Amino acid sequence: MKRPAGARLDEMTAGVPKLVEVAGVRIVLTRVGDTVYACGDTCEHRGGPLSEGKQSGTRLACPWHGWHYDVKTGQCVFPGRGAAVPSYAVEITNGEIHVELP
Ligand code: FES
Repeated sequence: MKRPAGARLDEMTAGVPKLVEVAGVRIVLTRVGDTVYACGDTCEHRGGPLSEGKQSGTRLACPWHGWHYDVKTGQCVFPGRGAAVPSYAVEITNGEIHVELP
């Protein structure tokens, strides 16, 4: 189900993750160029807040112990243990960001 994320594209700075809560789900939005990605905010390692991590391109590092996630897929790319956070489709309508929740 598509839901408003409560954020606008023009409020998002590329490289600066933003935490939103949609229907009780904590989601980190990341902007890469004019594309916005959405994935779960809670690190699969020990629950660190990914929205407080450092973004570098499409990589987002957990601030607690440095696991790296690909914001396009939610897949943890370092260490390569197959972990992943949920990834949500994003749609931008008239500048408003919407995310697709199951
Ligand atoms: S809680 Fe995220 S790397 Fe440990």
